[in-house]
Amino acid sequence: MKPIKVGLLGIGTVGSGTFNVLKRNQEEITRRAGRSIEIAMVADLNIERARELTNGVAEVVNDANLVVNNPDIDIVIELIGGYGIAKDLVLKAIANGKHVVTANKALLATHGNEIFKAAQEKGVMVAFEAAVAGGIPIIKALREGLTANRIQWIAGIINGTTNFILSEMRDKGLDFGAVLKQAQALGYAEADPTFDIEGVDAAHKATIMASIAYGIPMQFDKAYVEGITKLEASDIRYAEDLGYRIKLLGITKRTPEGIELRVHPTLIPEKRLIANVEGAMNAVLVQGDAVGATLYYGKGAGAEPTASAVIADLVDITRLATADPEHRVPHLAFQPAAISDLPILPMAEIVTSYYLRMHVEDKPGVLADVTRILADLSISIDAMLQKEPGEGETRTDIIILTHQTKEKNIIAAIEKIEALATVTGSVIKLRLEELS
Ligand code: NDP
Ligand code: HSE
Repeated sequence: MKPIKVGLLGIGTVGSGTFNVLKRNQEEITRRAGRSIEIAMVADLNIERARELTNGVAEVVNDANLVVNNPDIDIVIELIGGYGIAKDLVLKAIANGKHVVTANKALLATHGNEIFKAAQEKGVMVAFEAAVAGGIPIIKALREGLTANRIQWIAGIINGTTNFILSEMRDKGLDFGAVLKQAQALGYAEADPTFDIEGVDAAHKATIMASIAYGIPMQFDKAYVEGITKLEASDIRYAEDLGYRIKLLGITKRTPEGIELRVHPTLIPEKRLIANVEGAMNAVLVQGDAVGATLYYGKGAGAEPTASAVIADLVDITRLATADPEHRVPHLAFQPAAISDLPILPMAEIVTSYYLRMHVEDKPGVLADVTRILADLSISIDAMLQKEPGEGETRTDIIILTHQTKEKNIIAAIEKIEALATVTGSVIKLRLEELS
C-alpha cells in the first residue's frame, strides 16, 4: 500500500521529537499502522534549522499554507502552537479534506467547538492525544477505555512545568525564577510561561478532559483558573506538617447541579499515590462509576514523550482513514447530536474542603471567635494547628482544615474572620481534596 503522506507544521521541540521517533521506529510503526507513514513536507519559520533536522528526507518550506494546500498531503500535524496562525491553518487543512493531528490544547480549549464542527461536516478526523498530559494516553483512556462508565470526577497534575517548580522548590529549596528557567531550557514550558505558572495551560487541558468525560462543549471561558505564583513557602511547610502535599490540580466533577471545572493549588493527603508525583511527571486520576478509580502516570511534556502521543494519533488516523466517518470514534467521545448542555458551576457553588491560615493575637478567646464564625455558617473543622509565637512575639499563625462546604460559605466566613480585631491581614485560603 502506498505510504500515507504527512505535512508537519512547526519543527520545534515536539515537531523534531515527532520527526525523530517516526524515523527511528519506522519499521515497528508501519507494522502497526498497516502502511508506512512518511513526513513528506515540513513548514517552519526557521528554514535552515528545519533543513538540518530533516536532512533532505522531507521538502522544507517556510510558508505553512503550501503544506495545507498541497493535494498530496493526507494528514497535517499542527505543532506551531497558539490560536493565531495555527487556527487558520487547521481550519484550512480541514476545508481541504485533510485529517489533522495537533498537540495544541490552547487552540482546542478555546476554538475546539468550531474546529470539531468543521471536521464533522468535512468527514475528517482531528486527533489530539498530545494535547493533554503529553505522553500519557489519557484521551484514549477517557474516550475509549472508560466508555462504559459514567465519569464522576477527574483530578490531574497536568502541567509539568508547575509540578517541576513545586517539586524543586520543596526538595532543593530552590527559588521560583531559577527553576522556571530550568523548565524552559528543558522544553517543558509554553512559549509564554505565564500560561504554565498562572494555571492557564492546566485549565486548557482540564477543559478538554471535561468535554470528553461528560460529552459537553469546550468551555474554557467558564473554567476557574488560579496558578502557583501566589503560593507561599510557609503554606507548603504547614501543609506538610498536617500530612498533605500541595499540587496544582486540574479538577472536574459531575454534581447534580452541573459540572465543576477548576485549576488551583490543592492540598492532597501525602499518602495518595498522586501526591508523590514529582518533577515534570503528570498523573491523572479518573473516577468512573463502574471501574472505580484509575490512575494514569507518565511524562507530560518534552520532545519524545509528546511525540509518542502525536504518532499514536497518526497511526489511529492511518488505520481509520478509509473507514466511514460515521463509524469512527467521535471527536468528543459522545455522538455530536448527543452533546449535553450541563452547566459549568460558578466557583461560589463548588463543594470542597479548605485550608485556612490566619495570623492572630495569641490571647484567650481568639480561637473561640474564629470557630464560632465557622459554626454559624455550618462549616465543620477537621484539623487545627497553632504555631508557638516566636521569641518576644505576641502573634502567631493558626491553620484550620475544614470538612467539605460550599465555596460561598468559606468566603463569607473569611470576610467575618478578617473583620476580627485580633486577626491581622488576609486569611490565606487553599482548597483541599481527599481524592478518596
Ligand atoms: P516550539 O516553540 O518548540 O515549536 C514551534 C515551532 O513552530 C517553532 O520551530 C517555530 O519556529 C515554528 N513556527 C512558528 N510559527 C510558524 C509558522 N507560521 N509557520 C511555520 N512554523 C512556525 O513549540 P513546542 O514544540 O514546544 O509546542 C508545539 C505545540 O505542542 C504547542 O501547541 C504546545 O502547547 C504543544 N505541546 C508542547 C509540549 C512540550 O513539551 N513542549 C507538550 C505537549 C503539547 P520558530 O522557532 O522559528 O519561531
Ligand atoms: N507546558 C506544558 C507543561 C507542556 O509544562 O506541562 C505540556 O503540555
